[in-house]
Amino acid sequence: MNARSTRQRLREEEAGQPVSVQIRWMIRRDLDAVLRTEMASFEQAWSEEDFLRCLRQRHCIGMVAEQGDSVVGFMIYELQKHGLHLLNFAVHPSCRRAGIGTQMIQRLIQKMQAHRRRAITLIVRERNLPAQLFFRKMGFQAVRLLRRYYPDTGEDAYLMEYRNPQLTLAVNESAGNNRLSSYDPE
Ligand SMILES: CC(C)(COP(=O)(O)OP(=O)(O)OC[C@H]1O[C@@H](n2cnc3c(N)ncnc32)[C@H](O)[C@@H]1OP(=O)(O)O)[C@@H](O)C(=O)NCCC(=O)NCCS
Repeated sequence: MNARSTRQRLREEEAGQPVSVQIRWMIRRDLDAVLRTEMASFEQAWSEEDFLRCLRQRHCIGMVAEQGDSVVGFMIYELQKHGLHLLNFAVHPSCRRAGIGTQMIQRLIQKMQAHRRRAITLIVRERNLPAQLFFRKMGFQAVRLLRRYYPDTGEDAYLMEYRNPQLTLAVNESAGNNRLSSYDPE
């Protein structure tokens, strides 16, 4: 991060304002900053090749959060038939607890709603309590325990899900109008 954007961020934090970021598509030039955040965030970090392999797939989308001219966070998600699956997501440690993760997930929720998809899902390590608390605050729920999910440590994981409230509402309304309705949101 450069000095000017750090000063700007600190001013916003002192004023009690969430740091405002621009969220845009990830481009090749962002990869160095993304890798720095990745390595500072995860013990089992993705390599550059992991990012490139993933992003070469048409259904995988990368986005970054930029403050001034610094990339301070990223997310990678997969477009699935009925939902969006978050594959990788982090905010640089020096910029956490300033609302940046919240803004990125809000953007993802908007995308889910715009494309009328049913849910956003993700998998989180059982020991990653900060991320679980973050996602719970964003409205996600743990819907399944995945035993010994990670081959590196044998650690369990949780599948967390955010359901599109607009579709849930539509389903409930149509169920109310039609008692024979057997629509199954699964
Ligand atoms: C999870 C993560 C992306 C959150 O990003 P962030 O920008 O710090 O999140 P926000 O500032 O928007 O936090 C929103 C709320 O989430 C909760 N939260 C976030 N981090 C938390 C933590 N470490 N402990 C407890 N609650 C936390 C708080 O309720 C917070 O609101 P508050 O700051 O007003 O109390 C960030 O901690 C991170 O990059 N972690 C490492 C990578 C990771 O675990 N990714 C997820 C893999 S599944």
